Amino acid sequence: MNVTITARTTVATGVVALTLKSGDELPPWRPGAHVDVTLPNGLTRQYSLCGDPDDQEWRIAVLLGEPSRGGSSWLHSQAFEGVSLTVSAPRNLFELEPAERYVFIAGGVGITPIASMITAAERAGIPWTLWYGGRSRSSMAFADELAALGDRVHVFARDADGRVPIAEVLATPEAGTAVYCCGPDAMVEAVENACRAWEPGTLHVERFTAGTPQDGGAFDVHCARSGVDVRVEEGVSVLDAVLDAGVEADYSCTQGFCGTCETRVVEGVPEHRDDYLDHSAPVDTMMICVSRSRCARLVLDL
Ligand code: FES
Repeated sequence: MNVTITARTTVATGVVALTLKSGDELPPWRPGAHVDVTLPNGLTRQYSLCGDPDDQEWRIAVLLGEPSRGGSSWLHSQAFEGVSLTVSAPRNLFELEPAERYVFIAGGVGITPIASMITAAERAGIPWTLWYGGRSRSSMAFADELAALGDRVHVFARDADGRVPIAEVLATPEAGTAVYCCGPDAMVEAVENACRAWEPGTLHVERFTAGTPQDGGAFDVHCARSGVDVRVEEGVSVLDAVLDAGVEADYSCTQGFCGTCETRVVEGVPEHRDDYLDHSAPVDTMMICVSRSRCARLVLDL
């Protein structure tokens, strides 16, 4: 579906918020939903909707990646009022479940899905608290408008206040409370650890990553259809390695969520790092833009 940018605001250092409207009615969404945005350069990026679900316009916030791999830099340099973008229907893997009270924990641009959850909780009259951490106050999107909601909001700019005291915040399990966390890996892990004593099902997380790290050592890939052997070094994705070797492969998001690069595994055991496949059952494919190998050699249908 096509949408047009009707407003653009800088909401923090390196973060712009874009308001999107369509000539047609926009599909409904609930807090925690995201959309895939396809850019004119062919790249697809995923953004949480961070406005009010009752509005007939969408709002996304775009952090300029450091370094950008082409998505956020395009949006920061080219996405102004009047520009059209192609977006998917909203999808929600981070639903706000009913609860008696909420503890929201956000890190950096992970505030975007949490912001619309706060709007929903506030509207429903459900008690909530927010613990919001970031590098510095100026880098934290929506910090001032959230702080205006009063002492339920705890903002921790690392250069002034230190980190969110996650272990303290979650020290005492409370029945009926749902904990929602969106942030970088380290924050999500700290919240997961702190929630071990809480009731199962209390915690809901979404990781904000600027790309899955390509760590975990080098391995070999044999491309069965093209007959090409490729060495995948640490720090390099399978996708980049095979493209560099002249093997054709489709891709779009390069972040493991769109499914474009899904490739059949002929032999070997992949280490899945994507957000696309259902990993609750064995699969014979892998997302070569982010996933790696558990063995010395993979044979792929490429
Ligand atoms: Fe999107 Fe790999 S390119 S999942």
